[in-house]
Amino acid sequence: MTDHYAVIGNPIAHSKSPQIHAMFAKQTGQDISYEAILAPLDGFAATVERLRKEGYKGCNVTVPFKLEAFHFASALSNRAIDAEAVNTLIFRDGKIIGDNTDGAGLVRDIQQSFGIALNNKRVLLVGAGGAAHGVLHPLLDVTSKLVIYNRSPEKAVSMAQSVRQHEKFRLVSVKASEFGELEGQQFDVIINATSAGLTNSEIPLPPTIFAPGALAYDMMYGRETSFMAFARANGAAVVSDGLGMLVMQAAETFFLWRGVRPETAPVIAALRAQQ
Ligand code: ATR
Repeated sequence: MTDHYAVIGNPIAHSKSPQIHAMFAKQTGQDISYEAILAPLDGFAATVERLRKEGYKGCNVTVPFKLEAFHFASALSNRAIDAEAVNTLIFRDGKIIGDNTDGAGLVRDIQQSFGIALNNKRVLLVGAGGAAHGVLHPLLDVTSKLVIYNRSPEKAVSMAQSVRQHEKFRLVSVKASEFGELEGQQFDVIINATSAGLTNSEIPLPPTIFAPGALAYDMMYGRETSFMAFARANGAAVVSDGLGMLVMQAAETFFLWRGVRPETAPVIAALRAQQ
């Protein structure tokens, strides 16, 4: 019998998730369906309830509903609690379990696709909004030195402070830097978690920020952002969009739902070939 899943968002037409999960299902022989559902902005909860009644086994949640899903879930994973956002719901035993696979997706892509272990790297996280919060703890789990930089500095400061309350990160160096403090510093991995790419605006960064061999990673996908162009022009050795992260977070969700880990590299390659 086919198990049904979906992704809920607004807008949703552009979503690659149905294609990704269809490729995972084919590859692993899992009998599932996966569709994209546009929920009205005030209709997220009603949409989830409808899916549950119809016997769906779970769903993904994307913009702008990740925070609402966090509050709506009846149980939360530690990853969801840390991120204060939910991108995966599992309908099981009458419960709605909320998890978040975004951070795991980012870390896996950097580690597996680019072969960067992250543990002894200088990492710069640019941005302090929802997307940055979502990946902060998964990054800190594998990094020993992280700097957070945000256009509005007070948000980066409060993010860095929040980390210090966690015993498990007591050996990790986390600092918020303002633009002036970034000058003269170099980083091995620079992650753009801002939404600046949506408006094609420049993020002010010192051009000397990229260490030899640096990876510049934009969590957005589907277009060359100004951050990516800036990184190419200023010596980043590798520049990537977030397509791999998208596929890796989907694989992590697929594993939660189906207990099987799909191969991600052929799926990333297939999507890249369409770009
Ligand atoms: P998201 O969920 O995509 O993270 P968000 O919570 O609204 O969206 O956060 C947007 C992030 O992108 C913030 O860090 C924001 O910086 P501010 O806190 O200063 O607003 C950042 N951002 C958006 N546009 C930007 C731009 N043109 N330059 C630099 N940072 C930008």
